[in-house]
This record gives sequence, structure tokens and C-alpha cells, in this order.
Amino acid sequence: MTEQRVTLITGASSGIGAATARRIAAQGESLVLHARGGKEGEKIALLEQVAQQARESGADVSVLTGDLGDTDVATGLVDEAIEQFGHLDRVVSNAGFALHKSVGEMTREDLDHSHTVITGAFFELITAALPHLIASDHGRVVAITSFVVDQVPGGRMFPATAAAKGAMEAMARTFAAQVAGEGITVNCVSPGFTEKETSGHSALSTSAWQSAADMTPDGRLARPADIAAAVAFFLSDEAAHITGQTLRVDGGLSLI
Ligand SMILES: NC(=O)c1ccc[n+]([C@@H]2O[C@H](COP(=O)([O-])OP(=O)(O)OC[C@H]3O[C@@H](n4cnc5c(N)ncnc54)[C@H](OP(=O)(O)O)[C@@H]3O)[C@@H](O)[C@H]2O)c1
Repeated sequence: MTEQRVTLITGASSGIGAATARRIAAQGESLVLHARGGKEGEKIALLEQVAQQARESGADVSVLTGDLGDTDVATGLVDEAIEQFGHLDRVVSNAGFALHKSVGEMTREDLDHSHTVITGAFFELITAALPHLIASDHGRVVAITSFVVDQVPGGRMFPATAAAKGAMEAMARTFAAQVAGEGITVNCVSPGFTEKETSGHSALSTSAWQSAADMTPDGRLARPADIAAAVAFFLSDEAAHITGQTLRVDGGLSLI
């Protein structure tokens, strides 16, 4: 019998992370679903709801919370995954946020916080997961980056987010080269403007979301499920020979 695959997904309580959990949940899959749980634990119930849906699809699910703004939390997620399931095959580094502040408005603390939650957590995840990914027959890492790395559509400025996601993307490519010989793939999915659940963290106003949809060449925002489909592909056996890539799922936003 094939051993269950264990997948750790950060930021799984809403949006893209939740859609990814729902997409890959099935019999034979073990999921470790993480979120911060809101600033004061008020969103843990949302994560539990996603976990319940994944269980109903046949997956074995465990739930973890922690603020990735705190050093060592990401390392602890990997340790917990190993403690609960004994091995770890796939990591989806999705948790993150966008900071809509220009240079002159944002502080050094804002920049450091973006780097800690996004790049720092990614670094900790892959560092802690490395021996387990090497031991796995299907080691996979997928990082969720962003269009803001190299675009300012409509003049919307996210410099701290761009710096952190860009660093994450660069680290992912380097790591891809490091571990390719171990049969591990490392790829990024770069969403365009993506619909938010009401519980999600939105950096834009309702009218700004409408204009984001209008400026996207296919005329709509991405749905979390659009992004989850690309993540699921990179996690699959079919994608075993694809590594070090960034796939834009943006309705053509990168073309304008
Ligand atoms: N939506 C877009 O337009 C868009 C575009 C490009 C890239 N992205 C990227 O896609 C990823 C998912 O975005 P989304 O739209 O699905 O967001 P979302 O619905 O707001 O979900 C974000 C998830 O990340 C978690 N999170 C946020 N800050 C955290 C922290 N400090 N520590 C631990 N967990 C934290 C949240 O946990 P809690 O809610 O429990 O706090 C939540 O589970 C993010 O990395 C985002 O930057 C989104």
C-alpha cells in the first residue's frame, strides 16, 4: 500500500490556501493546515471549517495555528507535521498579506515584518522540511508569490510586499537548483488580483477591486480555485520534471 502523502499548507483558513486544501483533499492525502487564526484567535473556527470540509473529502487533517511574524513558528509547523504524521512530502508556502503603502508612508518595521512573514517563514519551512523532502519519493515545494513583484498595475504600490515576494521567488529558484538532484521540485505560483473571501485580509477598497477586475485582460479577478488548480498541478506526479518555474495565473494581467 502506498503511504499517505503529507502536505503542509500555510494560510489555509481562507482564499487561496483554503481553496488549495479543498482541491487536494481526498482519500490517501494527509493535510496539515495552518493559519494565524486571526490576531487574537478569532479566526480559528474558519480554519476548523476548512479542515472539516477536507475531512469530508476523505483526507486525514491536522490543524495548527501560529503567527509567522514570530521567528521559529514556521520551523515548529514542520516539526509538528512530522510528530503527527511521521513524514512530510509537500509544502505549500501560501500565508501572506499585501501592504498597500508607498515609500515615504511605510516604515522600516513594515519592511521587516513583510520579510519575516513572507521570506523568513519560507526560509524556515524549506530549511526544516529539507531532510523530510529528501526522504520522500515525491518532494514538492510551492510558494505563492505575487504580480506585485514586477508590476504596478493601475499605479498600485506595494513595495514591501514586492521586496518580500521577490526575495521568496529568488530563494525558491536557488533552492530548486539545490534539490533537483534529490527529485524534489520547487515552483512558484504568481496570482494576479484574486477575489477575497469576506474573512480574508484585503489591502484594497471595493471600488479598487472593481477597477482591478476591469484592468485584467480577461475581465475578472482570479478565483482562489484558479490559483489552487495551478498549485495542485505543481504538487502532482505529472509535474515531476518541472522545477524552478513561476507560473502566472492572472487572466493576462502580466501582458499589460
Ligand atoms: N488575493 C490577491 O489578490 C493576491 C494576489 C497576489 C498574491 N496573493 C498572495 O496569495 C496568498 C494568499 O492570499 P489570499 O488572498 O488567499 O489571502 P487571505 O484570504 O487573506 O488569507 C491569508 C492567509 O494567510 C494567513 N496569514 C496572514 N498573515 C499571517 C501571519 N502573520 N502568520 C500566519 N498566517 C498569516 C491568514 O491567517 P489568518 O486569517 O488566520 O490571520 C490566512 O490564512 C498570500 O501570500 C498573498 O500575498 C494574493
